[in-house]
Amino acid sequence: MTQTAVETPLQVLEHEPYLQVTWRDTQTPARGFVVIDQLVTGIATGGLRMRPGCTVNEVGELAREMTLKMGAFGIHVGGAKGGIDFDSADPRAEEVRERFLQAVRPLLERFWVTAGDLGTQQEQLDRAFSRVGIDETSLHAAVVRAPDGAEVRSRIRQAFNTRTEGLKLSELVGGYGVAEAALAALEHRDIPAETARAVVQGFGAMGGSTALYLARAGVKIVGITDAQGLILNETRGLDVELLLSARTTGGVIDRSALRDDDMECPGDSWLSQDVDVLVPAAVSYTITADNCDQIRGKLVVEAANVPTTPEAEQRLLERGVTVVPDFIANTGAAAGAWWVILGEVVSPSGACSRLSAQIRPLVQDLMNRADETGTSMRTAGVQFAKENSQRLIREYGGAVAFRDLFPSTPQGLQFTEGDEGPATGLSHASDVADIAEAVIHSPNAAFPGAVDVVDVSLETGREPNGAACPAYWPGPADPDSAQS
Ligand SMILES: NC(=O)c1ccc[n+]([C@@H]2O[C@H](COP(=O)([O-])OP(=O)(O)OC[C@H]3O[C@@H](n4cnc5c(N)ncnc54)[C@H](O)[C@@H]3O)[C@@H](O)[C@H]2O)c1
Repeated sequence: MTQTAVETPLQVLEHEPYLQVTWRDTQTPARGFVVIDQLVTGIATGGLRMRPGCTVNEVGELAREMTLKMGAFGIHVGGAKGGIDFDSADPRAEEVRERFLQAVRPLLERFWVTAGDLGTQQEQLDRAFSRVGIDETSLHAAVVRAPDGAEVRSRIRQAFNTRTEGLKLSELVGGYGVAEAALAALEHRDIPAETARAVVQGFGAMGGSTALYLARAGVKIVGITDAQGLILNETRGLDVELLLSARTTGGVIDRSALRDDDMECPGDSWLSQDVDVLVPAAVSYTITADNCDQIRGKLVVEAANVPTTPEAEQRLLERGVTVVPDFIANTGAAAGAWWVILGEVVSPSGACSRLSAQIRPLVQDLMNRADETGTSMRTAGVQFAKENSQRLIREYGGAVAFRDLFPSTPQGLQFTEGDEGPATGLSHASDVADIAEAVIHSPNAAFPGAVDVVDVSLETGREPNGAACPAYWPGPADPDSAQS
């Protein structure tokens, strides 16, 4: 059976998405979108957001970013995203979300592994999945592919419910990865962490843990902004743990907790602080051509999605400021979740160890490539991610491959007592986790070495197992007959 998806190699940022769906609600003005940018092993991953004004273009861009993230980290899964144009604060939001899930259910059953995103918390999404009768988890499409779904479910439950230093997997690993990316970039620029100064915009899931782990590594966090403004302490730096304990669930710091010499300043003054590293961890398009010349530091490490406009990034490149792009720096949460799903790690701190081992050489390799070629790290990273995606499609199949998502045998499992903390940063995580960690050193890990660019079509000749196939699957049912 021939399934033709694209004729040309993966053209991340330029290619048409593999699949684009628009949904119209029958009971409210809500509209919803799913974009599957790229399938790898017949599956794609990306969150579901809900916000007024959400468009199919926005969802498409984010789906492409997911392809880049998975490619850059060598995870054999494609990129996707969902979006609903509706106010998540509206009392009808939950029912709208459920009708949307029902409408796109065939995708959720098999192809699209989704998760919480802007305006949609993971718990809300899992509840909605249960109510429409798909599963207890939004990760369903991955779970049903496992040889032992119960084991995967229990692994997901344990890892996602474990708190490390009070933080859940989603709150911990993302920011930890950003901190590791920043530390690797500092090292590359010969700036010791102990002398480095940083400012972080945003103090939510990403900004909070980024600031925490940078501070743990010795970086002086001189400024943190939240939606109410900048808190600054240029002399002795901020007490990040104190501020975390004074943080509301909305990521706003209770000002009554500030020390006498902590100052309150306007939010937009975060950009002009005398620091080595700036971490945008709040909103998109915050660094623009109009304000980027205020930046005095040498590094911008993107925790938020698309915080720097292309014009600003070009200008910063010309000024010798390195931007560590979002799809490298902020992929920790998505990668960590996938490593848990695939059984490559079984706890948040295990995910941190794995992330550290992967992101540090990746950042330094991409900085080398960018320096050597005079391009931005984003350009070097996009090329690397594209090459990796093509390799993954070649090895695991693209649009119709429906196997090899999980390793068939758990060979390579290495059990250790507790989690091995990485060399820097997460010193306390290893003290907290008390479960045995299994880390499979999988062949899927990203590899910083050069990869031959190959011309890959999504045709693979592999088919799903017929018995497990839902009725809407378009291909033949006999897996052996289709094996090339
Ligand atoms: N949470 C994740 O797993 C994850 C993963 C990858 C990327 N991201 C991206 O990181 C960014 C932050 O996500 P999050 O999950 O930490 O959000 P969050 O809602 O937990 O926190 C947002 C923080 O930004 C602050 N903020 C809001 N508007 C601001 C403004 N104008 N100026 C300064 N601060 C402002 C809020 O007060 C809060 O502290 C988003 O772009 C998101 O898409 C998040």
